[in-house]
Amino acid sequence: MLKVGFVGWRGMVGSVLMQRMVEDGDFKGIEPVFFTTSQVGQVGPDVGVDVPPLKDAFDIEALKALDVVITCQGGDYTKKVYEDLRGGGWKGYWIDAASTLRMADDATIVLDPVNRKVIDEQLARGTKTFCGGNCTVSLMLMGLGGLFEADMIEWMTSMTYQAASGSGAKHMRELLNQMGTLRDSVAGELRDPSSAILDIDHKVTAAMRGGDFPVDNFGAPLAGSLLPWIDSKLDNGQSREEWKGNVETNKILGLQDNPVPIDGLCVRIGAMRSHSQAFTIKLKHDVPLDEIEERIATHNDWVKLIPNDKDATIDGLTPAAATGTLDVPVGRLRKLAMGGEYLSAFSVGDQLLWGAAEPLKRMLKILRE
Ligand code: HSE
Repeated sequence: MLKVGFVGWRGMVGSVLMQRMVEDGDFKGIEPVFFTTSQVGQVGPDVGVDVPPLKDAFDIEALKALDVVITCQGGDYTKKVYEDLRGGGWKGYWIDAASTLRMADDATIVLDPVNRKVIDEQLARGTKTFCGGNCTVSLMLMGLGGLFEADMIEWMTSMTYQAASGSGAKHMRELLNQMGTLRDSVAGELRDPSSAILDIDHKVTAAMRGGDFPVDNFGAPLAGSLLPWIDSKLDNGQSREEWKGNVETNKILGLQDNPVPIDGLCVRIGAMRSHSQAFTIKLKHDVPLDEIEERIATHNDWVKLIPNDKDATIDGLTPAAATGTLDVPVGRLRKLAMGGEYLSAFSVGDQLLWGAAEPLKRMLKILRE
């Protein structure tokens, strides 16, 4: 029975992973060991099977006793522990939600409905390090996997609308506090149907710009606004999040030697936990729209084709519809005015499920096959 260590299982991604594993009975047939950075010796979580008391996540010897480590603890933990563990001769499987190791030569990015072949090749080669991809990348590939599989894409832009959860739990709370502050600043006016909307707008703007507005985490108002920058700046003017779109996609698909150019702008918006993306896709050929729809819809069990009409779109192609589900709705499919080789598309997906926990959960299952 595989002895599997869980690190960072109490955080947001870790909690979603635990929940999904319990739902699918994944703890049966493994020997789970839970680690902690602060509560060594305390009772482990109830996952339906017996678990030993919590162990120290920095105890290299305890980690060495495992066949698999799954960590959602974050990049700093990976940096602190991974080299020591491997340096000490550990040959187990490391499955990581963080970006730290993603682009390393000896690491594979996992998204098995899209790159099972790459994963199997790497396993056969003895690869032991597997990372979940960036959330927008994984969600984009779950949505458009059919077009990549058919080698239809010459280049692509992805303009993102990313939810607060991508920044972390504190940011989700701050977004809600910002929303509440805005609403509270005009509570009296909203009760009075005859109050002037421009007065309301003036007060809301003043609240948003005021010194009391809660911005400790985002550094700026997000509610009632947006933030067109995610992560750090690279020398070429891209944000790191934008850079990941190209390099991670091509690595996942095993196309490093002949990459599909992908670039765009990554924007934080006031959604809670579902990321959305608008794509401009330059096709290699003028393929009919019905063939494109067919390829997208049949690629995997989770992609959901949304007809390009208003009612279906506002009903099914939104964060409100996708959140908490494994569905990846894709819609707004139409040829653009630039010509038959130019396709638009829009996708949505839960950033904590296919965007984070689900590929890791499934990688553990692959190891058990
Ligand atoms: N970097 C993503 C974001 C989070 O900021 O939304 C998950 O990959």
